[in-house]
Amino acid sequence: EAAEKGGYEHFMLKEIHEQPKAVRDTTSPRIAKDGKSIVMDELKWDADYLNSFNKIYIVACGTAYHAGLVGKYYIEKLVRTPVEVDVASEFRYRDPIIDENTLFIVVSQSGETSDTLAAMKEAKRLGAKTLALTNVVGSSIAREADQVIYTWAGPEIAVASTKAYTTQIVLFFMLALYMAQIKKSQPAERLAELISQLQKIPAQISETLEDVNPIKTFAKQYGFNEDVFYIGRSLDYAVALEGSLKLKEISYIHAEAYAAGELKHGTLALIVEGVPVIALATQKSVYEKTLSNIKEVKARDAVVIGIAAEGDEELEKYVDHVIKVPETDELLIPILTVVPLQLLAYFAAITRGCDVDKPRNLAKSVTVE
Ligand code: G6P
Repeated sequence: EAAEKGGYEHFMLKEIHEQPKAVRDTTSPRIAKDGKSIVMDELKWDADYLNSFNKIYIVACGTAYHAGLVGKYYIEKLVRTPVEVDVASEFRYRDPIIDENTLFIVVSQSGETSDTLAAMKEAKRLGAKTLALTNVVGSSIAREADQVIYTWAGPEIAVASTKAYTTQIVLFFMLALYMAQIKKSQPAERLAELISQLQKIPAQISETLEDVNPIKTFAKQYGFNEDVFYIGRSLDYAVALEGSLKLKEISYIHAEAYAAGELKHGTLALIVEGVPVIALATQKSVYEKTLSNIKEVKARDAVVIGIAAEGDEELEKYVDHVIKVPETDELLIPILTVVPLQLLAYFAAITRGCDVDKPRNLAKSVTVE
């Protein structure tokens, strides 16, 4: 097993470090040689096909569901088709409104999650076209779907998903670009610019992995708190959900992610002196609003760790610590901001002496309902 871990202490840490390669393997075969368009040989969609859909569903469980939340944002922003995201175990039982004009996308690392598989079968029965985003070739979900696109993350062993999540996000990003390209819903220059930013992401993930010591220190400092809050707006909120799930899964710390604007509707009552709050502030259109939420928690003496993009000189004035990630288009930044959150969860689990790769009560793939 030590050999399989490639010199890392745990599979999770190895998989976190494999993200630059996983993202490169997932993106590069799908970018045209001139770097200006997306090629999806697996799909070969055309405008008529895409115009036949008036609604898209994204359904998944756990981390894959969180990737779906980012996927919704990409598709709605770039393609302007309405997208609904749901967890498979809810979707299945709510008599969903689906017909042949629905594109039904499932996301699953393993391709074996039974709720996700059952949700897809139900959608198919109701007439939807189904597309699977999965990491395992020939898995049940891959076989059952009308069409499949693969994340090329390689085997993921740790129960807590890391490289599968980042590759699911890049695959959603490319899918949205591909759809926008066909539907001409974005100018060609904008698409080319986004593709060029996408190609820089693997090296930028490597940069975020260069010095993990500050994160290790935060984990030691705050790893014994029983509650941690994550806040953000828009795409930052989606990443906050994933960051808090990571912490819960492997360190058993109670973690809650909140849409920053919702704080005052309940969670603010729990913010007292010394409570750690991880605040993501990378989205320009809601930056000022997020900042005022950060001031609200600071006023209650929370300890705030801000996550910002390089070049942001503002956030550090209002928080206790800042972690910065390289600058990129704000659509792509979730792929970078999630990395320090994965590491924070990892080091918190180590600090608490938890079994990182095999957390209690959890399984890598849930094939029972
Ligand atoms: C389990 C795993 C999670 C995963 C979820 C969905 O709960 O522990 O890490 O996100 O299942 O798995 P899937 O293979 O469908 O992505």
